[in-house]
Amino acid sequence: MRRVANDLTSVRLALYEATSRLSTIEEDRLARIEAEVLLCHQMQITRAQLYTRLDDIISDDQADGYAALIERRLRHEPLAYITHNKEFYGLNFYVDPRVLIPRPETEHLVEKALEWLRQQKEPEQGWLIVDVGTGSAAIAATLAVHLPRATVVGIDASSEALEVARINCIRHGVARRVTLRQGDLLDTAAERFDVIVANLPYVTEDDMIALSPDIRGYEPLEALDGGKDGLDLYRRLLHEAPRHLRENGSLLAEIGLGQGEAMLELARKSFPDAAIGLIEDYNGIDRIVTIENRPLIAPHECR
Ligand SMILES: C[S@@+](CC[C@H](N)C(=O)[O-])C[C@H]1O[C@@H](n2cnc3c(N)ncnc32)[C@H](O)[C@@H]1O
Repeated sequence: MRRVANDLTSVRLALYEATSRLSTIEEDRLARIEAEVLLCHQMQITRAQLYTRLDDIISDDQADGYAALIERRLRHEPLAYITHNKEFYGLNFYVDPRVLIPRPETEHLVEKALEWLRQQKEPEQGWLIVDVGTGSAAIAATLAVHLPRATVVGIDASSEALEVARINCIRHGVARRVTLRQGDLLDTAAERFDVIVANLPYVTEDDMIALSPDIRGYEPLEALDGGKDGLDLYRRLLHEAPRHLRENGSLLAEIGLGQGEAMLELARKSFPDAAIGLIEDYNGIDRIVTIENRPLIAPHECR
């Protein structure tokens, strides 16, 4: 960090310089936000506190620490890995390169799962939910926080991801109701669940090559790679799911751009009698496949 004439740097100047450097990799508005977030992280203060301290002088140690954080971000390390924090559905999750950084699209999956559950009658023992490919436990822990009687099973193939999931379940006070298991999809599950939620890897072979440097260089590729058409994992999950979804239960899965029709077909094969649908995200892209395991009313039963 460059010093002013008397060799001292104010918060305001440090932010100005960092923003200008970060704008080489980000649009200006984001560069400013990232500069602020990183300075707050360095100084261990909130953004509200930062605005009241714009004219404070930063110590040499703080300035050097901040410069190192900016360098990391300039090398495309994601902000969330640098600060070890990602906000998801109003909760702060610990993240590091052992897990995918939870995405805003996935908040929509949580919202839809909660919406569906609130329309159903909760069993006396509470809901039994499984989150397949739990990663940081963003989905599993958030559901457990919002459904205080639910039991959630979070499954992941990666033991390292499960270490992070555990940190988050403890952080959010749900470790006793979220069981974390290492496994390949549902192979370790003997239960039938009320809800199966999944945000499994769905990036296609072609898109894996074109990933941005922030993702390709830092995030776990096994959390993204969905094979040639992106649906390798979902193909297997939908094959296994009928044995693990209760009658009147629901499966909700997040998918990628252009995968809606193929997923509908897979869903119909596995659940020929279920009500199956697609939900668009805020950009109008089919993002969630829903399967309600509810036998359709036969035509002669309609009046
Ligand atoms: C796209 S990430 C989603 C993480 C988290 N659920 C979220 O929404 O942020 C997919 C996760 O699935 C896990 N995974 C990949 N293959 C798996 C498999 N065969 N069985 C279980 N989990 C798997 C990855 O380790 C990764 O944590």
